[in-house]
Amino acid sequence: MEILIKNIKGLVQVEDEPVKYKSGPRMSDMKTVNNAWLQIKDGLICSFGEMNTYPGDNERSEIIDAEGKFVFPSYCDSHTHIVYAGSREIEYKDKIKGLSYEEIAKRGGGIINSSRLLQQTTEDELYEQSMVRIKEIISLGTGAVEIKSGYGLTTESELKMLRVIKRISENTPLSVKATFLGAHAVPEEHRNNQSKYVDLVVNEMIPAVASEKLAEYIDVFCDKGFFTVEETERILEAGIIHGMRPKIHANELAYSGGIQAGTKYKALSVDHLEFTGKDEIKALLNSETMPTLLPGASFFLGMDDPPARQMIESGLPLALASDYNPGSSPSGDMKFIMSLACIKLRMLPEEALNAVTVNGAYAMGLSDTHGSICRGKVANVFITKEIPSYEFMPYAYGTKLIDTVILNGYILEME
Ligand code: NIG
Ligand code: FE
Repeated sequence: MEILIKNIKGLVQVEDEPVKYKSGPRMSDMKTVNNAWLQIKDGLICSFGEMNTYPGDNERSEIIDAEGKFVFPSYCDSHTHIVYAGSREIEYKDKIKGLSYEEIAKRGGGIINSSRLLQQTTEDELYEQSMVRIKEIISLGTGAVEIKSGYGLTTESELKMLRVIKRISENTPLSVKATFLGAHAVPEEHRNNQSKYVDLVVNEMIPAVASEKLAEYIDVFCDKGFFTVEETERILEAGIIHGMRPKIHANELAYSGGIQAGTKYKALSVDHLEFTGKDEIKALLNSETMPTLLPGASFFLGMDDPPARQMIESGLPLALASDYNPGSSPSGDMKFIMSLACIKLRMLPEEALNAVTVNGAYAMGLSDTHGSICRGKVANVFITKEIPSYEFMPYAYGTKLIDTVILNGYILEME
């Protein structure tokens, strides 16, 4: 199938040569072609230019007139827990009344609550529930998504989650990456002997996940009240032996040492990072690890934000992801994530856009093929409604602005 989009008011995030990621001052670069056309062929971005070089309509192609509209590369959401059962609005009320995330977890709520529900849910039912959210994020402009396990907490249920992630990847046009997060919380039966649970993760779960080739990445919730640095390192080493690259939760609740553990084990990304100081920035500067911020979680939990400005001004790259999950961020709306980043983290619209496209792609191992408008990359783009500028996207924070979604070169029918 061929598609020609013409009269585009602004073709955003254009690259002639793809970069792995953008950091420091380059995070505010945003190459845009005004009054542009874009050609899509065989699922890939084939060519683009200014309208004075438009090749002309032809019969082979579906012609889309995008007068007054913008075209963006689809969002790359590099951190989600979108496969889960039920919801947790009861805890939402507890939080409003003043209980902290850790207090809720200690009472057997939180991740353990979702895990209980998930264990009682069949694989088919879990798939159906998750697909509702998957369709939602596709309509909101996401084209690539990383999805974690971590609400199973038994070998059987972790495998169930990962098989659902595999089905999503096989049955939707999204590019999906799977991450094994057996060490998300300690299940109740191991409360008094956490190291036994770590043994289970290392000796049973990781080999089982690897033998079915269900996950490319390994994650640990390395934080106060969850897993220590020593436990994290043990789990990462076992994952690495089985071919999984680390991509971890770190420093959400305290200066946990998680960032340094991540860079030590060449993590692809370390995520959350509310507690980031000079030492953490130094460790990140000498690494290939993408610092990934999840402003939806700090917003929803009413917690302090990470020092995004200081990180960018120190020369770091930043990715932004939704963290879509039932406990700390029940939304996969990447446009709203950009708005939060702009307003609460004081990131410029260009920085936020780079963080949800090219840098997000890097944080999920996809920057060669996704994250920008570049010849030869996968044709994952969306066309907006008529808008005045690209800054309007994060600015109009509650307005739905997407007109057409194209994934793998196909125009999607929205339900
Ligand atoms: O990324 N921080 C750990 N995990 C999730 C929350 C999971 C939950 O509360 O269900 C997060 O915020
Ligand atoms: Fe998370």
